[in-house]
Amino acid sequence: MRARRKKWALPFLLEHPELVKETLPLGSPFYEKGPLYLEIGAGKGDFVVQMAARGGWWLALEREVSVSGILAKKILGAGLGNIVVMAQDFDEVYPSLKKGAFEGIYLNFSDPWPKRKHAKRRLTTTERLVKMAALLTAGGRLYFKTDNDVLYAFTLENARQAGLAILDNEPDYRLDGSEDAESEYERGFRDEGKPIHRAVFARAKAQAK
Ligand SMILES: C[S@@+](CC[C@H](N)C(=O)[O-])C[C@H]1O[C@@H](n2cnc3c(N)ncnc32)[C@H](O)[C@@H]1O
Repeated sequence: MRARRKKWALPFLLEHPELVKETLPLGSPFYEKGPLYLEIGAGKGDFVVQMAARGGWWLALEREVSVSGILAKKILGAGLGNIVVMAQDFDEVYPSLKKGAFEGIYLNFSDPWPKRKHAKRRLTTTERLVKMAALLTAGGRLYFKTDNDVLYAFTLENARQAGLAILDNEPDYRLDGSEDAESEYERGFRDEGKPIHRAVFARAKAQAK
């Protein structure tokens, strides 16, 4: 997601160290809480705010600083104290994150990068899925939703190669509001009548360090 550059965003993020973290190394108080969840590419935060209002402790990763500013404002406006924001790229923060710590990882409408030559930029390359698997607890789940056929097929294929087991796979997913929440992109695609694809994966074996 690109937002028009917001000059206020970086100073705003820096003014809220209780919410926005540069790193979350082992030993951070965050890991003493539970259950822990991670959303990668949280966008403007509709999903994480709805889910965190129900409980758990959430890490929302969003690499665009302007979008992270909007996300952080929304979280503060909702009065939620159980979300941490990192305005960084997954690949950058991955080494410092605690492995085996997250009950759930959510990928909602990740950038599809539909051209084959850009496939390495997709969040669901085999290499990145292996890393995500390593962040999950033994019983943890990776939840993936997209409207994009190419990204859907790519993700299912790579998940197998990454040692993730497919627990559920719905090409035309009806939102289950009791366990899931609608993101801003999802709302837009549903309004356009597009089918939403969803897959749920479990860690079969973790290979990444
Ligand atoms: C298409 S938007 C979807 C936003 C939101 N999840 C939704 O469903 O409405 C994808 C978001 O993921 C972010 N993103 C993409 N790659 C990322 C990465 N490697 N690490 C962190 N955020 C990423 C983008 O900046 C963008 O805001």
